[in-house]
Order: sequence, then C-alpha cells, then structure tokens
Amino acid sequence: MQANLNKLREALRLTLPSAELEISSPDEVPNIQLALINSNFPTGPLPEQVMRDVIAKPAYWAFCWGSDLALAQWLTDHPTVVKNKRVADIGSGSGVVAIAAKQAGATQVWGCDNDEQALLATQTNAELNHVDIKLCADINDLPKDLDLILMADVLYDRSNFALVKKIKALNGTLLIADSRIANIEDPDFTLFHQAEALTLPNLGEFDEFKTVRFFVTGRPQTLLGTDAA
Ligand SMILES: C[S@@+](CC[C@H](N)C(=O)[O-])C[C@H]1O[C@@H](n2cnc3c(N)ncnc32)[C@H](O)[C@@H]1O
Repeated sequence: MQANLNKLREALRLTLPSAELEISSPDEVPNIQLALINSNFPTGPLPEQVMRDVIAKPAYWAFCWGSDLALAQWLTDHPTVVKNKRVADIGSGSGVVAIAAKQAGATQVWGCDNDEQALLATQTNAELNHVDIKLCADINDLPKDLDLILMADVLYDRSNFALVKKIKALNGTLLIADSRIANIEDPDFTLFHQAEALTLPNLGEFDEFKTVRFFVTGRPQTLLGTDAA
C-alpha cells in the first residue's frame, strides 16, 4: 500500500508540485480513511504552467466531493440499500462511495473511472480501509448483472448525461447523487432525498452547490425495501 501511496503522491505532484497527500477520516463517514490532498493545498496565484496542468488534468480523485460524502453517509445509514447486492460506483474518484457500499454489506463492488489515477486512488483507499473493490476503466466492462449503480458528482460535465443513458441500458437500479443539477429531465428518475455537504478539503464552493440531490430510477420504496408487502 505504501508503494501505491507514493505513486499517488507523485501523480498529484505532476499537477500541483507542492501538494501533499494526507490521510484523514471525513466527519460524515468516520469509519472511512482517505488519502486526499492536504487541506492547506496551494490555491494561487499559481505559476502559469501549473494552472494549465491543473485545468488540463484535474486531480478530481484527490478531493472527496460533497455529493460523494453525502451518498457515502446515506449508504452507511441505510445499509439495506446495498446489503447482499452487486454494486458499481461510476466515476469512483477517491473511492469513498464504493468503500461505504462495501462496508455496508454489498457482496461485490466495482469502482469505475476513466481516469487511471482515480482508479489507483480508489484501489489505495480501498486497501487503507481493508475492503476489496474491483476496478474498471470503462462502463462497458462492468458485469451485466449488477443490482445497483451509483454515480456521484459526475454530472458537473453536461456531456456526461450521455453516460446516464448508457448506464440506464445496463441492468440495475441507478442512483445519482449530484450537487450540480437541480433535476433530471427523464421521467424514469425520482428525486427522493436531499442533503447538505461540502467538498473535502473545502473548495469554498458557491452556496448553490452545497445541496446534494438524490435521484433514483424506479420506486424509491423499492430501493429502501419499504414497499408494502
Ligand atoms: C468530481 S469527480 C467525483 C469523484 C468521486 N465520485 C469522489 O468524490 O471521490 C468525477 C469523477 O468522474 C470521473 N469520470 C468522468 N467521466 C467519466 C466516464 N465517462 N466514465 C467513468 N468515470 C468518469 C472522473 O474521472 C472523476 O474521477
């Protein structure tokens, strides 16, 4: 694991040369440890080339995004949602949601991210928490018999709505947690929960991005197992 932490640190410094990795537990999910960028990370003004690198290849995985914190906490509080299920986390980044799903009793969890450093972060953080997370870089490589697919803070990029269509074509209920969108214009989704959360370390985001909305395909009662018998 130390070797992976070193690789992550090197990857982070390729973008932000003076950044550090710190291992800590978010208040929302105190049972999860994550290696994230240091809380007093350099913000600027940054040298021009560093700015260009940050924009060209943002180290999303070095932050734990608000939607992920909110979703990881909600899964921890509602373990029946994932218990004994096969689950995938799309855009896994730091891996916090995948780790929370596994800790809450999912039988198998896949972390899927098209950034290879994010996959390394998911793997390293899974090792830090002694859970087994399977990795894949392409949603087409996910197993076809998933029960639940999670996706948090991936719709910051509007082009990722195309991803939602593709994921809907897979088997399994799709649960999206996102602070960047107020609604999903697709009648298959129901908004069923809202929570407040901040990205860790704090990015000083606008107030409008502090509310995380949870959407699910199908009936929320089915997800929660509260359907009338
Ligand atoms: C804002 S980050 C959220 C990361 C993660 N959920 C967390 O907070 O730790 C968005 C993540 O989605 C990933 N991503 C974006 N487009 C993707 C795609 N088409 N397939 C898989 N992952 C994608 C990015 O690489 C990035 O890691």
